[in-house]
Formats: sequence, C-alpha cells, structure tokens
Amino acid sequence: MPIQYHETSQTFHLTNRWFSYIFKINHEGYLIQLYCGSRIRDKENFDELYELACRPMATNYYQDDRTYSLEHLKQEFPGAFGADMRKGAIEIEGKDGTKYTDFRFESFRIEPGKLELEGLPACYVEEEAEATTLVITLKDEHLQVRAHLLYTLYEQLPVLTRSVRVENDSENEVRIEALTSLNVDLPDDNYERLMLTGAWARERHIEWEPLHSGYQSVYSLRGHSSHNFNPFLALKRPSTTEESGEVLGFALIYSGNFEASVDVDTYHTSRIQIGMNRDTFAWLLEPGTSFQSPEAVMVYSDQGLNKMSQAFHTLFGRRLARGVWRDKARPILLNSWEGVYFDFTEEKILNMAKEAANLGVELFVLDDGWFQGRNSDWTSLGDWVADEEKLPDGLDTLCSKICDLGLKFGLWIEPEMVNVESDLYRAHPDWRLEIAGRHISAGRHQYVLDFTNPAVVDAVAKMLFKVFDGLNISYVKWDMNRSLTEVGSTYWNASHQQSLYHRFILGVYDLYERLIERYPNILFESCASGGGRFDPGMMYYAPQAWTSDDTDGVERLKIQYGTSMLYPISSMGSHVSASPNHQLHRNTPLEFRADVAYFGTFGYELNPASLSDEEKVLVKEQIRFMKEYRELIQLGTFYRLKSPFEGNETAWMVVSQDRKIAIVAYYRVIQEINTAYRRLPLQGLDPEQTYTVSDRDGMFYGDELEKIGLIISDSSASENNDGKNEGDFLSRMWILKAV
Ligand code: GLA
Repeated sequence: MPIQYHETSQTFHLTNRWFSYIFKINHEGYLIQLYCGSRIRDKENFDELYELACRPMATNYYQDDRTYSLEHLKQEFPGAFGADMRKGAIEIEGKDGTKYTDFRFESFRIEPGKLELEGLPACYVEEEAEATTLVITLKDEHLQVRAHLLYTLYEQLPVLTRSVRVENDSENEVRIEALTSLNVDLPDDNYERLMLTGAWARERHIEWEPLHSGYQSVYSLRGHSSHNFNPFLALKRPSTTEESGEVLGFALIYSGNFEASVDVDTYHTSRIQIGMNRDTFAWLLEPGTSFQSPEAVMVYSDQGLNKMSQAFHTLFGRRLARGVWRDKARPILLNSWEGVYFDFTEEKILNMAKEAANLGVELFVLDDGWFQGRNSDWTSLGDWVADEEKLPDGLDTLCSKICDLGLKFGLWIEPEMVNVESDLYRAHPDWRLEIAGRHISAGRHQYVLDFTNPAVVDAVAKMLFKVFDGLNISYVKWDMNRSLTEVGSTYWNASHQQSLYHRFILGVYDLYERLIERYPNILFESCASGGGRFDPGMMYYAPQAWTSDDTDGVERLKIQYGTSMLYPISSMGSHVSASPNHQLHRNTPLEFRADVAYFGTFGYELNPASLSDEEKVLVKEQIRFMKEYRELIQLGTFYRLKSPFEGNETAWMVVSQDRKIAIVAYYRVIQEINTAYRRLPLQGLDPEQTYTVSDRDGMFYGDELEKIGLIISDSSASENNDGKNEGDFLSRMWILKAV
C-alpha cells in the first residue's frame, strides 16, 4: 500500500519506489511534517523525528511546557497569525474580523486513483491503480470551516500532488484571504534554489541561488504566469548535478498570479509554499459552499536534475496534457507571422502555402491579421470575423484551397482581448476589466476583456464557434498579449473585487474547456507574447505552447534548455525563422537554426517564397529528417548534457524508450581557435548495448559512450564535416543506433 496510516503513532507514510513523505497527527491535532526525502522502509513509529525543544523567547502552547511551540514545529498546514509566526498556509477573515486560523485533524480516507478538480486543470490517472489518494479533513472549530487536504501519490513516478478544498460549514460568510496549495517544512536549508526567470524574448532562463535566511520567492502579479518567473522552484543540494544528487521540484498547475517561496527561519528550517499569490486573492465563501485551490506538484529525485525533469515531462506530457494529440508526434507547420506579419492577401497566403506544401510542410497556420480591419495591432481584437478585403471569399474558401494543397489549416486567435477600435468595444464598453473612475493602462494598444463575467465568455465563445463550426480547421494558436492591470469589474460588487484575478483565469479555463470539448481534434497551442503563459495550467488545455517570440537559434538554446527543466519537448513550439533574425538581427546558418528547432514541435516562420533554391533543398531535407525522427525527439527521454548558461557550448540528447536509438545534438556558438581535445559523456543509453554512431566508424558500448563520451573537439569534427559550417554557430547531430 503506497499510503500507510499507523494508528498507534498516528503517522502517515506516503511512499513509492523513489521517496518517502511522512507526517503525523500530534496530540493537539496538528499535522507535523517528519520526513521528505529518499525512500525509507516503513515502520510503525517515526516519533524520534518529532522534535520538541526548549527555545528562549518561544511562545508555548502550554504554560507549563516550554518545549512545545508551534513556531518550531515543522507543519503540513500551518495556521496564520498564531504562534507559528511564519506565513500560514491559510488565512481566513471570520465574522469577528480577525484572520487567525487554526486547523486541527478531524478525519481521513485513503482511496485508489485521483480526484478531479472542478473547473481547474489537474493531473489525472487513466487507471485507478496508477495512484493513491489521501484526503485529510481538518477543521477550524471556531470558524466552523473545514479544509480537505488532497494528496495523490503516483505509483510509477516520483510525484506527489497536493491541493486544498476549503468548505464553509458555518452559518456566516467568511473570506479566504490566502490559501497555498502546498506547504512543506524541511529540517534544513542546505539547498540551492532554482528559478526559471526572464523577460519577453528571453523566457525561462535558469538561475541558481543558495538559500539564505529570510523570505525568498518568485511570483507573478500580472494576471498570467508571466515571462518573468515560472510557477516553479526546485531545491537542490549544492553537490547535485544533472546526473546525480538530490533535488526537489515544485510546480503549480495554474496560469494566474502565483507565488513560490522558501522561508528560512533562524533555526535553518525551510518552509516551502506554492500557490495563488495572496496579494491579489481573496474569496468570499458563502455558508455551505466550498473553494478548491489549484494543484501543486512535488517531484523528488536523488539522481540529479535530469531525472527530476524527466518525471515532470512524463507527468505533464502524459497525465496533464489531454486529447488526441497528447501521444502523437506533432505536425510540421509553417506560421505566417514573421513571413508577412499583417501584410497579406489571399493570393499571398496561397503562394506561401503552395511553397510550403512543396517543401513537405503539413500544416499552414494563418497568424494575426485575418479578421475584420486588422492591419495593425491598434484595431479589431474582439471582432472575430474574416476581413473582407484580405479574404474576399472568406475563411472557408481559403481553408479549402489550403487543404486542397494537401495541407492542414490553422488559425490565430486572441480571445481574451479587445481594442477600443472594434465593434465589440463599441457595443460593450463595460466588458473590459477596469476600475470605474480610475486611469486604465494600455498594453500593445489593447485591453483585457472581463472574463470574470460569464456573459463575456459566452459572447466570445459564440463568435469563435461561428468561425470554427464547419471550417476544416486542425490547429488553433490562442494568444494573450498583455498583462492585467487596474483590475476591476462592473459585474461584481465590492466584496468580490479581490477575487477577480482568480475568476479571470477560471473564465479562460472555461472557454478553453468549451472549445476542446466542441473541437476535440483541434491541436491547441497556447501563447502569450511568446512564452508569457508557458505554465502547467495551460498544458491541460493546449498540449503545446509557443516557447518564445525570440526565434534566434542562439537565444533559443538558453530558452529551450531552461524550459526543459519542467516541460516536455513535445510542448515546446519551435520554428526556424529567417536570417538575419527579426528579433536580434543576427545571421546564423540555416542548419544551426533547424538543429535547435528540431528539439520542439518544429516548423518554419518565414516566407518560403523568399528562400533560395539551395535553401529550399536544405529545408526539404530538414523536413524529411524531422518526419523520420520526430517521434523519438518529441516522445523520447530527454537529457541535458551541457548548459548554455555555463559557456559557449550546449549539448542535449534524446533516447527512445527502448534505448535502441538516440540523437545527440551539440552546439558551439562562437568559433574557438586551436582548442583542446574534448569529449562529451552521454546519458541514458543501455550500458550493455553496442551502438553505431552516424559519421563515426566502428561500434561503441553504451557504457563506453556514457563514461568516455563522444569526441566532439574540432580535429575530429573537421575530418568528417561533410562541408558543414565550421565557423561561428556550429551545430552537430549524431544518431546512435543499437546493433
Ligand atoms: C504575439 C505572438 C506572436 C504573434 C503575434 C501576432 O506576439 O507571440 O507569435 O502571433 O503576437 O500579433
């Protein structure tokens, strides 16, 4: 049984092949965290880990016992503004106006499988046997409010999920002011904290920082998970590497404002919390109603960062993403954006599509600019009908002409937004988020629709249904190009205004759910000015996301490497674009750009008509290559080998599930002169197996390639260079096949 309860010691032991998570109910009914780490054998009693200590200046629960202080206990669901004196996992304002909370054990149940979370994205199981769920019910007697802690332990993955459902069983309304999805108190602070941080065009860069005393966090207050920080943090031991050592990863399945924090106290314990950002959240809970928090995920690895990432990849790729595309290699697409921007006619688009079809592209995506009057980013968001000037015969005709070329057809939308210059805004000026009587900021000349108002979501849904119904559409890119500011809604009264950020994202989820239900075969790609909402919440609806507006191959090394910490290759939108690159104006070889873009969903974002004949031959070959290997690349096991954050070189590889075939990719940004001999140790191969390596003679054992490595220095490369570029922006790929 993966979740054990020991009656005599009142201890829960959640354990699978990889880790143990142990906590107990103490005498007063608080849940006390005892151990979170590498798997240990089960026993009846772990009470030696329950530390009571007499500490000066502590406040004590009992007058006559100086050893018992909540401040020094490691807890699972600490209350707020009591004797714990750190940030609580839950704050509730009761009818007396105080925000003190005090939740004690009431009951528990253990059941097979996993519970669904209504209206929220969450991981799931396909068979009950895949996971076991523990529901612990705690109660604050004074408030008459219950908290149900939902733990799910996966059997075949080093994964524990947790969320909280709060239920108001009193006769008064209460206001939830803060609710973290997961709280873990660890006994020491000997960790480095990993963040995925950045900005537009340089999303999810990896940053490490040793834990220090006090509060440290990453967060969003932008209404979307943001380019700036991802809803994720990992704690690794200082000696942990990609291949070895302990690391704990925490992610939140949520797309709105979040906070992921570590609070190190003066006794060096570390409180980890991840959940909705308490600064922009409050929820009025009527008597007899409940509120469900988003779900948090904890992944444990004692075999380094790669193993942590692989667990996230499997979980997010196979048990969070849904739909017919989940397990399939993704279509190779041509996106119109960087090729023509807003400037196109039907003829121009059809020419692009024809060229694309000749090159072997499978899906043509018409990006921004196709709808009524949309010739710049100043107008038309909200008016989801085809522009009559650009597409006089309508979308249907364009779509069928594109399909006649043997291509699938896809479309860009930005449903959460409105321009003032639009019929929608003129008809419903009260449908944007704003605070009456206050200044309102613009972002990309546009405003955010009030998705907290169900009538707005309904109206947008209806417009989109009208576009998609009957259209032979296979793909939708859902964009979101500005953050939320000055958030207020005329739909809600004053006591609900603090719930708007959360209600907004629930509105987004609602519309997504309606679309995927109505169009189960459409492949959705999420996007927010590139990677501004590349988060686990979105993956539940859209199995792939536009990784970044930055399509420069060199920049993409860092962006894709960082993104791979958490997200599978099958989720990373990656396109080859023109040179010089439109963001950086950097020239890189076409081979280099493709060698980077292969490690994602792969496509092109340029006007194929502007390619030279020589380039067309190369592109055809690239598409042929990707068709042959995309299943391996997108669904295989991914290993990071060399970090672009540490130098001039980057390397990664994918290995098939049966370890019979692998692809290794190596990138060197700047040419170096007269360099030393170098080897690249590989990962994930079968040590007993012999492999051939493309462009190398002979056979190599798996363990030989892992322990000694592939020789990657110049002298060896230039001998076999097939005329490939040898200057700056060099890339090499090797295919390993078991023989
Ligand atoms: C955003 C997206 C781009 C493109 C444009 C269109 O910036 O990230 O890929 O779709 O919008 O306006």
